[in-house]
Amino acid sequence: MKNLWSLSANGFVGGKESIMRRGNVYQIANGYMGYRGTLDEFGPDELVGITLAGIFDRVGSAWREPVNAPNAAFTRVSLEGVELSALGSRVTRHEQTLNFANAVFGRKTVFAAKAKTLTLESSRWLSAATPNLGVVTFSVRCAQAARVTIRTGIDCNIWDLNGPHLRQMTAEKHGPVLLVQGVTHENSKRVVVAEAIDLPFGTETHETTDNRNLRVIQLRAEAGRTYTFHKYFAVFTDNDTVNKPLTEAAIETVQQARALGREGCRERHDAEWARKWERCDVEIAGDDEAQHALRYSILQLLMVAPVRGSANSIPARALSGQVYKGAVFWDTEIFMLPFFLHTDPEKAVELVRYRIKTLDGARRKAKTEGPGYRGAFYAWESQEAGDDACTYFNVGDPFTGRDLRTHFRDKQVHITGDVAIAMWEYFKLTGDDSLLLEGGAEVILECARFYYSYAYFKKDKGRYEILDVIGPDEYHERVNNNAFTSMVAKETFAIANATVAYLRRNHPKALRTLLAKIDIQGELPRFREAENLLYVPAPDARTGVIEQFDGYFQLKDATVEELKAKMVHPNEYLGAAQGLAVATKIIKQADVVAMLNLLRSRFSAKIKKANWDYYEPRTEHGSSLSACAYAMVAIEFGHLDFAYNYFLQTAKIDLEAKYKVYVGTVFMGGSHPAANGGAWMTAVLGFGGVQADENRVALNPRLCRKWKSLRFHLAYKGDDFRIRITRTSLTIVPSRANARIHTFLVAGRPVKCRPGRSVTVNYRPAK
Ligand code: BGC
Repeated sequence: MKNLWSLSANGFVGGKESIMRRGNVYQIANGYMGYRGTLDEFGPDELVGITLAGIFDRVGSAWREPVNAPNAAFTRVSLEGVELSALGSRVTRHEQTLNFANAVFGRKTVFAAKAKTLTLESSRWLSAATPNLGVVTFSVRCAQAARVTIRTGIDCNIWDLNGPHLRQMTAEKHGPVLLVQGVTHENSKRVVVAEAIDLPFGTETHETTDNRNLRVIQLRAEAGRTYTFHKYFAVFTDNDTVNKPLTEAAIETVQQARALGREGCRERHDAEWARKWERCDVEIAGDDEAQHALRYSILQLLMVAPVRGSANSIPARALSGQVYKGAVFWDTEIFMLPFFLHTDPEKAVELVRYRIKTLDGARRKAKTEGPGYRGAFYAWESQEAGDDACTYFNVGDPFTGRDLRTHFRDKQVHITGDVAIAMWEYFKLTGDDSLLLEGGAEVILECARFYYSYAYFKKDKGRYEILDVIGPDEYHERVNNNAFTSMVAKETFAIANATVAYLRRNHPKALRTLLAKIDIQGELPRFREAENLLYVPAPDARTGVIEQFDGYFQLKDATVEELKAKMVHPNEYLGAAQGLAVATKIIKQADVVAMLNLLRSRFSAKIKKANWDYYEPRTEHGSSLSACAYAMVAIEFGHLDFAYNYFLQTAKIDLEAKYKVYVGTVFMGGSHPAANGGAWMTAVLGFGGVQADENRVALNPRLCRKWKSLRFHLAYKGDDFRIRITRTSLTIVPSRANARIHTFLVAGRPVKCRPGRSVTVNYRPAK
């Protein structure tokens, strides 16, 4: 039977692409840093990456990207003078595992050299209790007495896409601690790495060669005896708030960890992980494949959730490397935030705060990007200060090697509305207005201000229109009246108006201060007008289909297969000025369907079905964000088998490594946290039928065929609930600590949920 709490693989196939994919799938992270799923002996050629959250650098005119730290988990072993690597020819067995329960990576490899056999085992984790800390346990055992050399320490040969980012590198030894530090190019931020070990055997000398700061351990290994040591490493940067020099903080962290010991460190780490799973696990009975893939997806989200108090967000490729410039996209607000909001609002706070922190960046972008833009134009690819890392030429043409003009940065304006919607969702589902008061309301009003400056008032039609944009479907640039974009803009006006009304009622003084601070009082009537008069393409009266943008229906019809058959290069880009999809109705990803999902309570099942049927055959699913939107909408009109297939695609995207590695000439390999969020969303909000707003939680389950039951945890307005859904009944267990009685709507019937009192009701799945 499949182990539903781990992932493992046997053997190791070399080759760049397979190493890259393995590295993604087996990565570990703790919000502060990610460590790719590479092996102890690997180096930059095997894409070892310790990607740090929230610290970026630019070298020359290359793309800005997050900084990778020197690798303090490096260890390489020689047996009788022969250097061993899982990629070499001396491997007789190799297995590796990722434990979902506590995000521990482990490997075991058996090597043979000079007629001797050595078994190497190691495990690695990034502490969930102490974010700067990582721990490795490493052991060797020889079947015959043998001469073994272990080189372990800090490898400063760093894998970078657009680096090297660290200059003035120094390697030192402070007593028993190895130390490496460097400084970034652009902002001169220091990155400090320290390493200490517990070594109960062998003799140790120190070596700094080949850009490595190493201990060399000589060992005369006895036959059959296991030699184990523990390694503690710490990474600190100028982004950390510590009241002592960074080097001291790093040294102290590893010394303390060593004093506490591997067991002690692990206990704290495991306890944190137990707490995470307690709140966030989803159990599916009857479908191991789905259970495993969903749990893996949840693990990914839990690993990369920002450290408390950091106000960091989650990049589109999480902490799996520097792809997509380590930037935060709408992926976070629309695809990942729902998971955190419904399970662990304390993490959701960080994601939302990130947009408050980067408001000035969004203001800068509005000022510099367009004629007369005002307010907050959020970055399409947002880094630490909110400035846009997206370039005007963001895709390379594989035929000519030339950069293609793309308009993601200047025209994908729906990002601003996605931010406003997320801010408001946080308020609605948590009931916590403190973020609104601490910058959230300001964000919302500045978002509305931006759309007002972007919109055109068509006098002849008596309405506002949002023109010249890119919707989620990136293959059709510079279109008018994109339904998704116009809808989120309209929603932004509605949210701005609701925010003002709420503050006026509950915090009039704070409202006055805010309106004066950003001098926006005079614009409020315009927002009310725009909420009413902003045009959003409506469903066709006869077919129910919403035109994705003006003129979309006039484009050439084609199938995805026909289009793909015309491709001359496997990586050619289908959009920009003259990509193959541009003149056709083929879309990259859910667009109208993404809107039907985002605002799902606004549209009938009939409209959802009409649009799903129309757009599904015309969708390439060229983005990992697409399948889950189709899954969610299919559930709503009862197309459960289709939904299930899309759910599995989403949940297994990294496990099966079915994604584009190159778009044009741009390397895209990395993990897909938005799809992970989409998988959770489909399981819980989709099949589980959870729909929460400011007034109540509604549950309309529609379990797919295979699922006998579904259990999950729900956080709502500061209270906690456990939900168990079978095919005929639904049980709600409100936590004993809940502050109040809630009324849930189960299949349309009100159900009182009293603290500590579980209730079970029978239901009939909605048709
Ligand atoms: C998609 C975007 C997405 C980005 C990052 C692109 O391929 O079209 O919608 O935000 O990837 O995941």
